[in-house]
Amino acid sequence: MCGIFAYIGPKTNAPKIVIEGLKKLEYRGYDSWGVAYKTTDDIVINKKVGKIEEMKEGPWTKAKSSLAMGHSRWATHGGVTEKNAHPQATENRDIVLVHNGIFENYLEVKKQLQKKGHKFISQTDTEVIAHLIEEYGKKFSFEESVKSAIKKIEGRYAIVVLKKNENKIMTARKGSPLIIGVGTPKNEYFIASDIPAFLKYTNKVIYLDDDQMAVIGEKSIKFLDIKKDKEIKKRIIKIDWNVESSEKGDFPHFMIKEITEQKDTLTKAINQDPEIIEKVAQAIKNAYGVYLVGCGTAGKVGMVGEYLFAEIAKKHVNFAFGSEFGNYKDFLTKKTLMICISQSGETADTLEAIETAKKKGVKIVSIVNVESSTMARISDMVIPIKAGPEKAVASTKATTSQIAILTLLAYACDGGVKIGKQLLITTASQINDMLNPRYGEHIMKIAKKIKNVESMYIIGRGKNYPIALESAIKLQEVSYIHAEGFAGGELKHGPIALISKNTPVIALVANDENKKDVLSNATEVKARGGYIIGVSPEKEEVFDFWIRVPDTGSTSPIVNIIPIQILAYQLAVLRKNDPDKPRNLAKSVTVK
Ligand code: AGP
Ligand code: GLU
Repeated sequence: MCGIFAYIGPKTNAPKIVIEGLKKLEYRGYDSWGVAYKTTDDIVINKKVGKIEEMKEGPWTKAKSSLAMGHSRWATHGGVTEKNAHPQATENRDIVLVHNGIFENYLEVKKQLQKKGHKFISQTDTEVIAHLIEEYGKKFSFEESVKSAIKKIEGRYAIVVLKKNENKIMTARKGSPLIIGVGTPKNEYFIASDIPAFLKYTNKVIYLDDDQMAVIGEKSIKFLDIKKDKEIKKRIIKIDWNVESSEKGDFPHFMIKEITEQKDTLTKAINQDPEIIEKVAQAIKNAYGVYLVGCGTAGKVGMVGEYLFAEIAKKHVNFAFGSEFGNYKDFLTKKTLMICISQSGETADTLEAIETAKKKGVKIVSIVNVESSTMARISDMVIPIKAGPEKAVASTKATTSQIAILTLLAYACDGGVKIGKQLLITTASQINDMLNPRYGEHIMKIAKKIKNVESMYIIGRGKNYPIALESAIKLQEVSYIHAEGFAGGELKHGPIALISKNTPVIALVANDENKKDVLSNATEVKARGGYIIGVSPEKEEVFDFWIRVPDTGSTSPIVNIIPIQILAYQLAVLRKNDPDKPRNLAKSVTVK
């Protein structure tokens, strides 16, 4: 959610580098954007509502500067206007700043500053930080005033600050992502919300942790622990992502590229260090109360986990959405284990759930894709899913890899990690066969038929019930068609009233003990005029349209979601939506 990019170094086209970087962060979702660059005696700011235009259209193309920063905003405080876009600045552009997150106590601070004569022109919480730094600047140095302002901020933030007469960048974070790329010429630094934004220039990174600040000058960099008020050392880490893995290549969209990558990603997920799987399985067995926690799609994966542990390990684990987890706080003890699932590792609701758990001494395991994320760094144990960068807002390859890890863990809890691995290897090869062009063409037939429907429903039972919910998210977020998932048995308790002639209903079928019942639910729908799309290993009489999936036993949630991901993508394209950047959504939701 929101993108920050800044550059300081020997290159003289910093504004252009920043715009390019911001474009690479577009997938995170934004509604307006802006750039600021330093000239000899001023800071020039350009802001716009809407998409980042091609570079040739802006004054920054020709602007010569070696220090610039930019921001793509996902509005939280104040409408989507040019005035509210970042960079935000004080009246004479003395202090200029970009900010990701929410400054929770901004109103109170704003009032205090207004009394001192500060005038505000935007409705943002961010502008208040700029004025606060300016106020402290009356007494302190640039560095001290930024530090003092940060100490007053409650909430989550990542900020980058410039001052008119200083060739320096101040940057700090708490809760929102911010990474420093270390360039190959000495003294060149990139500051960004995500690594792919500067991967073209460097794969050497420094991770700022919460409550840390970096002071980056033309010839120096230093790090501070804000709380302890002292200088600290930070390590440079080499990361193994390459530029190609974060580019679209020959694919028209990231979403279909990432769906197709599932030919390989499952294998990458299961080729884990077996020790970590065994260690986490042991922790699950020793725990008194296990919670699977995630949001959105990662939440649905957690729900699948609940069924997998019941089926495979005969073990009861609890599930909670990140935003709901706090309601269980009275049940948390030092013996509780929390397993967090997240692609980005930056989802605010899940991070807050971790904070709640940590206060009670709960041990945290995270299953994440971004290994450098906040979640990974604050967890006691981390299982990386190794799916490579996932850029489309709709999660696809991360989803199936997360389910694969939970499957493996459930088997490991039952002492059968090898059986689990073998099953997943077989599933991976069946997915490889399934993801051929003809499969997509077949699904396209149904996409064309239903592209103009108003509503559609998905039913599943057992471990495919959460997949019905996940299918609904996929269809909603990119096709914008009203879609809802239900447990098959629940239909007749209400939702069946919504079925009329030709309402599409997808039935997710697996070759398990729920098969008969879910087919019978499909028959009930068909009797009311519903049009049944069956996702199933076998063709059944009740289906009006059949999408074949391999018969993979316990991994049916993995194979059943893939055709729905393809269908959602195709519907988005047919309805002329952008599948990579759906409206109103952001890739990582770093606000509460
Ligand atoms: C997935 O398609 C959604 N865009 C969304 O629900 C997402 O899964 C959720 O925001 C959690 O993100 P995370 O995995 O990065 O924590
Ligand atoms: N709260 C800030 C605003 O609304 C920052 C939002 C963001 O993270 O993009 O301007």
